[in-house]
Amino acid sequence: MKFTDSPVIELPIGDKVLSIQQDNGSMHVGTSVWPCSLVLAKFLERWAGVSPSAANPYSSLVDFGSKHRRAIELGTGCGAAGMALHLLGLTDIILTDIAPVMPALKHNLKRNKQTLGKMLKTSILYWNNAEQMNSLKPPFDIVVAADVVYIEESAVQLIGAMEALVADDGLVLLGYQLRSPEAHKLFWEMSETVFEIEKVPHEDLHPDYAYEEADMYIFRKKKKQQ
Ligand SMILES: C[S@@+](CC[C@H](N)C(=O)[O-])C[C@H]1O[C@@H](n2cnc3c(N)ncnc32)[C@H](O)[C@@H]1O
Repeated sequence: MKFTDSPVIELPIGDKVLSIQQDNGSMHVGTSVWPCSLVLAKFLERWAGVSPSAANPYSSLVDFGSKHRRAIELGTGCGAAGMALHLLGLTDIILTDIAPVMPALKHNLKRNKQTLGKMLKTSILYWNNAEQMNSLKPPFDIVVAADVVYIEESAVQLIGAMEALVADDGLVLLGYQLRSPEAHKLFWEMSETVFEIEKVPHEDLHPDYAYEEADMYIFRKKKKQQ
């Protein structure tokens, strides 16, 4: 398991290496890199490299290069998952978080600018702020979120944001770890009313970036009854 609490996390993606600086001493959880974002990134990297498509159950999911897809990450923190997705070909991606986390995010985007080839787009986005969401012109084909379910009060807002942002035929990619039993219960009860939920089997995660507590889910919006 390649997780570390060292000040700099190195995340190899394809033939590149992202270098992400974290500050575990800050009062904002978003200034640390959380393992779920690495699990999510490396799961996608693992299957992005597998061909022929017949041997790859995730071929359409990870086919980021062939058609233009708009993506957004919620609660991106230091930006590990979003930057990895950009390297995997999801180049139209906006990384979002609350205002106090923006300096750490922008610092890391600048730090990796050469590897990424450009400064990625960022936006302040609070999950209960419809105006902020509308300004980003949803729908998005892919909504990404890693380790974002830990406060009961914001679990409902998070599902509302996912529902508002993702296209009817789009996907939510969620890296999940249980942090709070109350938030967990509410989040999953509500998610089931809005989304069809697919859990990625653990054996499909990247073997070097998998551990018992971290799960990957793929959400698709439930079809509306006519
Ligand atoms: C545990 S951190 C995970 C950060 C990053 N995704 C990772 O895995 O390294 C949770 C993130 O969700 C963000 N967050 C929490 N509540 C939020 C809200 N109501 N609106 C927007 N972002 C929120 C936090 O600021 C933080 O960056």
